Amino acid sequence: MKGRESGMPDEAYWVSFFDPEAILDRLLGARGGTYNLLEFGCGYGTFTLPAASRTRGRVTALDIEPTMVRLVEQRARDAGLAHVHAETRDFVDQGTGVADGSQGHVMVFNLLHIEDPLALLREAHRALQPGGILSVIHWRSDIETPRGPPRAIRPKPAQCALWLAETGFDSVLQVDLGPAAPYHFGMLAKRAAS
Ligand SMILES: C[S@@+](CC[C@H](N)C(=O)[O-])C[C@H]1O[C@@H](n2cnc3c(N)ncnc32)[C@H](O)[C@@H]1O
Repeated sequence: MKGRESGMPDEAYWVSFFDPEAILDRLLGARGGTYNLLEFGCGYGTFTLPAASRTRGRVTALDIEPTMVRLVEQRARDAGLAHVHAETRDFVDQGTGVADGSQGHVMVFNLLHIEDPLALLREAHRALQPGGILSVIHWRSDIETPRGPPRAIRPKPAQCALWLAETGFDSVLQVDLGPAAPYHFGMLAKRAAS
């Protein structure tokens, strides 16, 4: 089932809302990693491709929309990023399909307003290896924003922190994304090391 309010506007408009490289500098850190990375709902690949240039591990990018998946596949090919594997998959109905504890990093960007965020976070926790990191960004609800799901269904950082604790994450922290994302907040959480 496609998550509510998860359709995308024109790409040019979408990418005007943030600076993906600067956001990933704060959430993923430097290039040269070797961890596997999983992205729920990759959309245009706005974050997939910049993230893939930071790790040589397998990058799994899932989206329910075949057109988005084809676009990301093509872009990865054009960029020579052979370790990116985009897949048409409904993570709500089918899960992510990755092995337990197989991922070093999981990205959940602009998605936590879906109907069952706890199920998504449980699946992210299952996918992460001990010590693995989850990153989240979402539209702020405390300011006017030019786009985003209705404010009533946007989770606030404190709500996300509660959900993350409930689904087994620890070391939850809010990350100031600064001018890279004036309309978004960021969060990081860890799957406990053991
Ligand atoms: C709001 S967009 C965000 C895209 C990307 N994460 C970003 O921030 O640029 C949400 C994406 O999730 C996808 N999506 C929604 N429900 C899904 C589901 N059940 N399984 C897989 N993808 C889904 C949509 O097709 C859309 O591309």
